[in-house]
Amino acid sequence: MFEDTLLETAARVQALLTELLQPKAEEDEIERPAPLLAAMRHAVLNGGKRLRPFLVVESARLFGGDATAALRVGAALECLHCYSLVHDDLPAMDNDDLRRGQPTVHIAFDEATAILAGDSLLTFAFDVIAAPETTLTDSAKTTLVLALARAAGMGGMAGGQALDLAAEKQAPDEQGIVTLQAMKTGALLRFACEAGPVIAGAAAEDRQRLRAFGALIGRAFQLADDLLDLTADAKTMGKATGKDADRGKGTLVALKGQAWAETELDRLVNEAVTLLSPYGDKAATLIAAARFVAHRKS
Ligand code: IPE
Ligand code: IPE
Ligand code: MG
Ligand code: MG
Ligand code: MG
Repeated sequence: MFEDTLLETAARVQALLTELLQPKAEEDEIERPAPLLAAMRHAVLNGGKRLRPFLVVESARLFGGDATAALRVGAALECLHCYSLVHDDLPAMDNDDLRRGQPTVHIAFDEATAILAGDSLLTFAFDVIAAPETTLTDSAKTTLVLALARAAGMGGMAGGQALDLAAEKQAPDEQGIVTLQAMKTGALLRFACEAGPVIAGAAAEDRQRLRAFGALIGRAFQLADDLLDLTADAKTMGKATGKDADRGKGTLVALKGQAWAETELDRLVNEAVTLLSPYGDKAATLIAAARFVAHRKS
């Protein structure tokens, strides 16, 4: 079962994140303030599907990459993803009280602590990749750092979040929504799939193919998230639902309807399967991940 494989990797990610976010200061750190660290741990060690680390691990495995290094890069990406959720939930952004079935960080702590926990998790992601414990060549690390910076910054996730908020005031057209979603959600998922071939030192062509696969997964992921916002309940999702319509979010579900979205999800999965066909059975887990992303229930 795909879900069991995902859970197994999630447990390994959880163990590594717990070890990384321990109270003792690392070399060249002065100290780790307890309330800040507690907020970071609240944001990170609280469940979550751990899909992004899973994609890093599986895309590395496809090309024979080092599994331990892949897990560390996956954990780094998860820290960055959790930062994006902490800030996404802030009152100035989506203003949400519930995340992964728990109070959001600004509710459990306070707003300033949530902002700083997000800042610290963003920075920490790059720390974990660059640290000596990540046994990759300096060249591979630099490539990953650059790719992650571009995926997370103004031309990626953070830029997409800016477009998402602007879209509440002025509704974008279909292409505008596709672009904003490719940035706010697609960029980190694209990085997750692209990281594997980089970790493994695979050919440029393989990196391109996995990058395209990641972009498709990203599209499907946000489309499914927007469908679930409409159809699922808060208990199942661990976060409030029915909020996109209330806030006038620019989503494809709002623009083109639920039936269209369901057909589009099938189309995106088929495209993803075709992309990975050169790898045959070796890509079965990544293909199962694409199906999971499109048809997940939470
Ligand atoms: C939620 O991501 C944010 C979006 C990009 C829609 P996930 O659905 O992966 O959230 P967790 O990590 O499992 O909580
Ligand atoms: C979030 O999109 C994308 C991020 C970069 C965090 P949403 O705002 O739809 O995510 P949820 O529904 O709050 O998880
Ligand atoms: Mg949002
Ligand atoms: Mg949100
Ligand atoms: Mg959402």
